[in-house]
Amino acid sequence: MTRINLTVDGAKVADDVEPRMLLVQYLREKLGKTGTVIGCDTSNCGACTVHLDGTSVKSCNVLAVQADGAQVTTIEGLAATHDGGELHPVQEAFRECHGLQCGFCTPGMIMQTTALLAENPDPSEEEIRLGLEGNLCRCTGYHNIVKAVQHAAAQGRSEGVSS
Ligand code: FES
Ligand code: FES
Repeated sequence: MTRINLTVDGAKVADDVEPRMLLVQYLREKLGKTGTVIGCDTSNCGACTVHLDGTSVKSCNVLAVQADGAQVTTIEGLAATHDGGELHPVQEAFRECHGLQCGFCTPGMIMQTTALLAENPDPSEEEIRLGLEGNLCRCTGYHNIVKAVQHAAAQGRSEGVSS
């Protein structure tokens, strides 16, 4: 077992974990953060995307011990870390633009989108598609997801909120 200390969705946690435990397993099984989902076993789908020190990562591709000392934000903490429980503007945009059907890919899509917009608040359609290429959706055909990202970007520019 290895001791880790990290901050998850604004709360400090300390735990002993197996060195081989994946971050996604740690979040789901030890912390009960089941909003972060597992959609594949090949690091392809992006459903497990979280932010590690502000950068989006596939949490099935990161060991829990690699998050030692880091700040982790999951879909469950996005609203809370943004504005005290209100939906994050990217969550609102996905809701308004119907950027989901079954919703399985949505946590990862939203986490990836917030990281994308933090880096590039005014992305072109091509940049959005490129930025989300590591996140797979089997339902929507991506059209409304792109619209949701464009909507969130426009909102962010008008309200000065992009992350
Ligand atoms: S579960 Fe992590 S990429 Fe699919
Ligand atoms: S909404 Fe079903 S996988 Fe994307």
